[in-house]
Amino acid sequence: MKTYKIAAIPGDGIGTEVIAAGIEVLESLAKKDGGFALRFEHFDWGSNYYLKHGAMMPADGLDQLKPFDAIYFGAVGSKEVPDHISLWGLRLNICQSFDQYANVRPARVLPGIDPPLKLAAPADLDWVIVRENSEGEYSGQGGRTHRGLPEEVATEIAVFTRHGVERIQRFAFELARKRPQRRLTLITKSNAQRHGMVMWDEIFARIATDYPDVQTDKMLVDAATMRMVLKPRSLDVMVATNLHADILSDLAAALSGSLGIAPTANLNPERKFPSMFEPIHGSALDIAGQGIANPIGTFWTAVMMLQHLGEFSAAARLMGAIEQVTSSRVFTPDLGGRATTAKVTAALCHAIEASRGHA
Ligand code: NAI
Ligand code: MG
Repeated sequence: MKTYKIAAIPGDGIGTEVIAAGIEVLESLAKKDGGFALRFEHFDWGSNYYLKHGAMMPADGLDQLKPFDAIYFGAVGSKEVPDHISLWGLRLNICQSFDQYANVRPARVLPGIDPPLKLAAPADLDWVIVRENSEGEYSGQGGRTHRGLPEEVATEIAVFTRHGVERIQRFAFELARKRPQRRLTLITKSNAQRHGMVMWDEIFARIATDYPDVQTDKMLVDAATMRMVLKPRSLDVMVATNLHADILSDLAAALSGSLGIAPTANLNPERKFPSMFEPIHGSALDIAGQGIANPIGTFWTAVMMLQHLGEFSAAARLMGAIEQVTSSRVFTPDLGGRATTAKVTAALCHAIEASRGHA
């Protein structure tokens, strides 16, 4: 029997609550499936670790993670540690060092969920945002001089490489090709950003000729927000830069019902390094410790992890169980319900248990 080694990094706040729930569900799924096993190893890295050791993860942390088949990540962010330290020290450090350049963020309206947007049919909102995850606006280049003085200067440089742009756009074309609509929208801002974004557009036009079966169009990012709200059905897969996709995917999550249900995969498609799977949301300090965090995003994230591992029938079984639980409206407060994290998790495990044979 195949055994996958999974590194669990719950992190801070509700990260610890939703990852515990996700592991419980994954374990009942593996038991039900019978064809594979999961071995979790826990890493207590995060803001508390930082307060004790002065770093978000140990110096050899990346070496420790390298042998794993996947990383299951919660969230980081606490009141005691500045956000740019917690984010760069752990999540961005892993994403960039493991060349997880493709960040895949599906959004759709799950059965039973009332989205804030009036849709003719739930299927009208069914998107995948492909986010460039290794460079762009989050390359980390720039600096500050004359700190604290009136003449202080700060720069934040967006870096676009032909290599980086080509690989993410090809990835998006390949993904779009596998979806029923086969449509890919390039998100850009080449009217105002006349260097990097113009190259981004040119490369897209060139690659599009290799994918005649994929229908393409191009939107400025500001107009794209409007189209997501007003004509959701006209969109399928979107490819966008690190910053643009970061913003659009929170919008996509909210439009599909709640930030608490949105999953994401940080992929190293060449599989030279482990990929990392996490809910989109942060540590949600406003509700941490109350036992009411929505674990659905973390469960859907597990579906993406299983797909990456090649366990497609288990992934389908888990997605089916998630949809069954949302249909029966066992909801945490963010979705208008009164269920706890534990109650949703128990409902999920029950749905897995009750699912028939091999999916
Ligand atoms: P957030 O995503 O933590 O929360 C935004 C709002 O959504 C809050 O009202 C929260 O209660 C709600 N929410 C989020 N996830 C939920 C869930 N699963 N169930 C129910 N409600 C949920 O974003 P915020 O408040 O801007 O950031 C909090 C901290 O998290 C900050 O320190 C930030 O830097 C960090 N953060 C970390 C991320 C990561 O680790 N990948 C991503 C985003 C933020
Ligand atoms: Mg974000």
